[in-house]
Amino acid sequence: MKVIVRPTAAEAGAEAARRVAGLLADGTHPHLGVATGDSPLPLYAELARLVASGLDLSAVHAHALDEYVGLPAADPRSYHWFVRHHIAVPLGLDPAHVHVPEGAAPDPHAAADRHEARLRAVGGVQVQILGIGGNGHIGFNEPGSAIGSTTRVVDLTADTIAANQRFFTDGTPVPRQAVTQGVATILSARHLVLVASGEGKARAVRDALHGPVTPDCPASYLQTHPDATLYLDPAAASLLEALVPVPA
Ligand code: GLP
Repeated sequence: MKVIVRPTAAEAGAEAARRVAGLLADGTHPHLGVATGDSPLPLYAELARLVASGLDLSAVHAHALDEYVGLPAADPRSYHWFVRHHIAVPLGLDPAHVHVPEGAAPDPHAAADRHEARLRAVGGVQVQILGIGGNGHIGFNEPGSAIGSTTRVVDLTADTIAANQRFFTDGTPVPRQAVTQGVATILSARHLVLVASGEGKARAVRDALHGPVTPDCPASYLQTHPDATLYLDPAAASLLEALVPVPA
């Protein structure tokens, strides 16, 4: 795994965005895997700036990592909403090219199968953007997830439910399940770009990079991928062993 540390989360995200843009530039495999959460927001902001300056992503298909089970797509806490407002609209994507697991479908297991089939049909994405949970999860692959797992319905851990509680202060129950791309699905991307910032991610980042490859830290599976890069701010990198500096 390669590690790039920049002085701020904004700069780390901007650098990650330039890499993503470069990987999509020749248009030969216009499939981008997108993550939700706060961590990739600076990345999307920089991509939007590049689009405003002429980068054309209109042929790109966006494939989301995950979605809550049972939350309607119109709910502002749904990942459908996040992908539309933070990614599809600012990046000028064709709405017909935006694919988010249908977590609110009557049969979420069938929705998971459709998402997996769509990703397989294109041979995996060119580049997958990832965040990381404080417990080392990627997408919603919680600790215990197998390296061979594919897109499926998962139960969220108590930690994750507690972390999400802050978004559900109006009495709506916090979702307890999600549809997530599996670990094998994520690893089928040609390139992986993970962004993390803040000291709350430092332990998970350290375990992902320096720990054993183990289901206890699903992000550690990135060690098995031929091209995974972590873009970090100094706080997220604070528990890492000495790094070889990468020039700005
Ligand atoms: C959720 C998402 C993950 C994301 C994680 C961290 O659990 N399913 O894909 O990486 O949150 O979110 P944040 O970047 O807001 O810390």
